[in-house]
Amino acid sequence: MYKLVIRGGNSLIGNIRTSGSKNATLPILFSSILADEPLKLTNTPQLTDVSTTLRLLMDMGANFILEEDGSILVDASNLNNLVADYSLVKTMRASILTLGPTLAKYKKAKISLPGGCAIGTRPVDLHLNALEKMGAKIKLNNGYIYASAKELKGAQINFDLVSVTATENIIMAATLANGITTISNAAQEPEVTDLIHCLNKMGAKITGENSSTLIIEGVGRLSGTEYNICPDRIEAGTYLVAAAITGGCITVNNIEPDSMRSVIGKLIETGADIQTNKNSVKLDMKGRRPQAVDIRTSAYPNFPTDMQAQFVALNSIAKGSSTIIETIFENRFMHVPEINRMGANLKLEGNTVVCKGVKSLKGANLMATDLRASASLVLAGLAAEGSTTIERVYHLDRGYEMIEEKFKMLGADIDRVQH
Ligand code: EPZ
Repeated sequence: MYKLVIRGGNSLIGNIRTSGSKNATLPILFSSILADEPLKLTNTPQLTDVSTTLRLLMDMGANFILEEDGSILVDASNLNNLVADYSLVKTMRASILTLGPTLAKYKKAKISLPGGCAIGTRPVDLHLNALEKMGAKIKLNNGYIYASAKELKGAQINFDLVSVTATENIIMAATLANGITTISNAAQEPEVTDLIHCLNKMGAKITGENSSTLIIEGVGRLSGTEYNICPDRIEAGTYLVAAAITGGCITVNNIEPDSMRSVIGKLIETGADIQTNKNSVKLDMKGRRPQAVDIRTSAYPNFPTDMQAQFVALNSIAKGSSTIIETIFENRFMHVPEINRMGANLKLEGNTVVCKGVKSLKGANLMATDLRASASLVLAGLAAEGSTTIERVYHLDRGYEMIEEKFKMLGADIDRVQH
């Protein structure tokens, strides 16, 4: 087991480059199940969630090659096992994304129910109800989803809630369905758009990207293609908050500023100087203490829930009081008691955190619980006086490539040690 040891107080200065988006790589890897030929993916991040996805695809009969340049060649065109086993699914909820493509290509699938996780119960009813509307027979038994369909037919799908992976599952199922599928109240996250771009390169017929209404005309088959994964806007946002919380000045390269307008807007409200170019964002805090900002999470293009924990860390040392309201997940505040152990003044009231900024935090021994909560503990440690240790670092490795190396490049005093 490893832990991170951070000696806080350094202002972060310098340049880093974001990696490819985790939440675009996962659905696009699963879309290889739909293709009759291999996919070649470039700009893929080296993360445990990506390795888990490759292991799951291999378990189902796919082959893949990790090329020298970091790209992935994946051939899932001829699966011999239509089961996504609990042993792998329990480690990564996104495994539910095997359901849509496997059902569309092979007309049956047995997928372990993902179950909940630290941040919530994470139901999959929207996925299952929509597939039934397309003609699938769905049964739940001993913790598995048993799905089958003589054929999947195009349907009118209207999601009561905006769901990223439910939208992605239905898009993938609809590409090979018989007829036209319309999805209303579709998720518009940039990662959904990246999946659409890749599927259309494979021969799918999907229109309405970047809107809440998607139209998918089913086709007979999908070919292989080469695709470059979009940058990770949440990784980029995390590093920009790290610079803001330490009074630093950094430039994040390989990021599309348009994919993070709501986060950039909030960073400007903290008093940061922000400059954006076509593929980079520069934040200069000029040594100042950030101004507290109110946050309310909701679906894209509004403020992303995946950046909520990072702004709790920032508000904990900011000037003034603020509220952070989490509207997407019911238990995404596991970072709050941990940051309070560093001397913060954060009060949980239902789905709201009331933050009263303190001048400084004190380093402490902390425990990571989920991916983004762990990132917020790193940010708090970077800003704190003294030394902070963060155990269960495996949570971070799910979604942040080379995290301590990238922070070291920006001048952070951070090490990964065995314990
Ligand atoms: C995706 O999760 C992301 N994961 C999450 O990122 C992200 O936090 C989330 O979208 C919201 O943006 C991937 O893309 C792999 P949802 P997903 O379905 O699709 C409810 C990270 O840190 N819901 O959009 O699972 C659900 O409970 C991860 O990278 C249902 O009720 O989230 C939640 O309240 C964490 N029934 C809301 O919808 C369903 O069938 C939005 O969840 C599905 C979802």
